[in-house]
Amino acid sequence: MNSFKDKINRNALPNHVAIIMDGNGRWAKANGKPRVFGHTNGVKSVRAVTEAAAELQIKYLTLYAFSTENWNRPAEEVNALMGLLVSTIESETETLNKNNVRLTTIGDTKRLPKPVYDKLLECIASTANNTGTTLNLALSYSSRWEIREMVKNISTDVKNGKIEPDSITDDTIASYMATKNMPDPELLIRTSGEYRISNFLLWQIAYSELYFTPVMWPDFTKEHFFEIIADYQTRERRFGLTGEQVEK
Ligand code: IPE
Ligand code: IPE
Ligand code: MG
Repeated sequence: MNSFKDKINRNALPNHVAIIMDGNGRWAKANGKPRVFGHTNGVKSVRAVTEAAAELQIKYLTLYAFSTENWNRPAEEVNALMGLLVSTIESETETLNKNNVRLTTIGDTKRLPKPVYDKLLECIASTANNTGTTLNLALSYSSRWEIREMVKNISTDVKNGKIEPDSITDDTIASYMATKNMPDPELLIRTSGEYRISNFLLWQIAYSELYFTPVMWPDFTKEHFFEIIADYQTRERRFGLTGEQVEK
């Protein structure tokens, strides 16, 4: 069988792909299992897309793993997710290193339970020198949290005379975001058939191509990922210009 991978133009890859991994709970329910079973099965999709991104040598892959709003889920589910995070990091660090993948995070990670936070720091340190794909996990992340932090930090620096209000540019704002040093995602994918952004990367996705798929996250495979990259490459990104201007 032909793979969508063969259709991908290696010279026109996105530098940064972001994914809202959604649908674990509904997938579990459809299989007559508790929600946590869906999260457990979602881990293999994380492994698959990380491998797929590494194979294509995509520079940044950001995965929305846990939002600030998700803290309000039942404690049992939150605890299960935290436990899964620790066990996954433990079991996957070796593979990340083997695939030359560097782990980073964005989000209010200080809110994570200490064992989770410590494990994360360990994995970040262990993979810090890898030069392939950066796997960026959004954990305890929300865009409004990030924007609030940005405004607080810029205000403080203005107050302390470090920056002049008139000198603030888009680049200044980007440099105060959790995603500083990363390009904006050219492509944002959401699984599970929901058509919303759910407080994710609002500043960074200003001109991202959006792709919504009905596939539930635990069913999401490398081949789905390759298919979406191939679809992305058929699109014309105009950035407000006319088609004629872009084609020149
Ligand atoms: C995504 O799946 C994973 C997290 C948000 C942690 P959900 O848990 O949101 O699954 P659904 O949307 O309820 O099916
Ligand atoms: C978004 O999914 C957050 C993550 C994927 C981590 P949710 O399932 O929390 O979003 P809503 O509640 O459907 O908007
Ligand atoms: Mg959901």
